[in-house]
Amino acid sequence: MAADTFIPLTIKAVERETAEAISVLFDLPNEHEAAFAFKAGQHLTLKVDIDGEEVRRNYSLCAAPHEGKLKVAIKQIAGGRFSTWANQSLEPGQAIEVMPPHGSFTWAFDAARQANYVGFAGGSGITPVLSLLKTALQEEPKSNFTLLYGNRASSDIIFLEEIASIKDRFMGRFQVYHFLEDELEDIELFNGRLDSDKLADLIGTLITPEDVTAAFICGPGPMMDAIEVSLKTAGLGEDQILLERFTTGAPSAAQAAADRELTQKVAGLEMQVRLEGRTRKLVFDGAQDNILDTARAKGLPAPYACKAGVCATCRAKLLSGEVKQRATYGLSKEDAAAGYVLTCQSIPLTEDVVLDFEG
Ligand code: FES
Repeated sequence: MAADTFIPLTIKAVERETAEAISVLFDLPNEHEAAFAFKAGQHLTLKVDIDGEEVRRNYSLCAAPHEGKLKVAIKQIAGGRFSTWANQSLEPGQAIEVMPPHGSFTWAFDAARQANYVGFAGGSGITPVLSLLKTALQEEPKSNFTLLYGNRASSDIIFLEEIASIKDRFMGRFQVYHFLEDELEDIELFNGRLDSDKLADLIGTLITPEDVTAAFICGPGPMMDAIEVSLKTAGLGEDQILLERFTTGAPSAAQAAADRELTQKVAGLEMQVRLEGRTRKLVFDGAQDNILDTARAKGLPAPYACKAGVCATCRAKLLSGEVKQRATYGLSKEDAAAGYVLTCQSIPLTEDVVLDFEG
């Protein structure tokens, strides 16, 4: 993302998907089609003003690129400022500031390939997985997709009907299995959450690891961790496991204290930041906690969304010097290898740090 660019888009439709989740379809004028072209699995950053305060959140696109729709799902989470506001207030005709799509939870689909994909989704984690599975089935006519989808109860299943209709349409190439924590199903395998014990039951029955081309995982952190470890133990390589995190856990008290201490130690280091075609000299501000906040406090429009290390909206290329990152969840392996860092998670370690937000 070159800069902190948002474009106002009008909401075309708001559908209630479950008691706690809505889907939001944006109207996309021709003039913005190119800017909002996206890959399966990517997300949008939405920006609104709630009670005089700017609030940004990322939401994954649930449509596939070939569907020509810009649509996200927003699940209301307890205490969630944006999600509560959106579930109560959004309606057709309203305009919202939207950043063009981004994100690395995606895959290069190839019509000639014959692949077996597995998607693991928990709750609203279905949104990017739905986009990926629709794309896989549409673009790779010889490929199969198996979806394992965990929820508390059947009433919580977002896109239940759409998933059923995909199953009808791609019969033989798409399998879906629902796992419910608080509702008992006849087959014991489908009761309970997608944790390590469940994965042990699934591997070798519903999942044959040696046949899996790639696995896409999105949902609560502990579920994702358990699935990732189980799949690696079963023999899948890192390149075959793609993860999309919506949130991260808080660091331990000891880690937070160590981070604070280091941040104070490096306060005052000089840096350079390249943004919007200009290079600015900055002094790292220990009171701002990270490079992104230091840049924004100086009036630079450095882009961001989550400030938690998961979305990569704030990524910049490190051209020289050294930084320390607290988390790198949102960086793909390719981005990390190419020298990108997450500025919301970074502090400088040396005097000669140069970061390019347009790199
Ligand atoms: S703003 Fe999301 S990773 Fe930095």
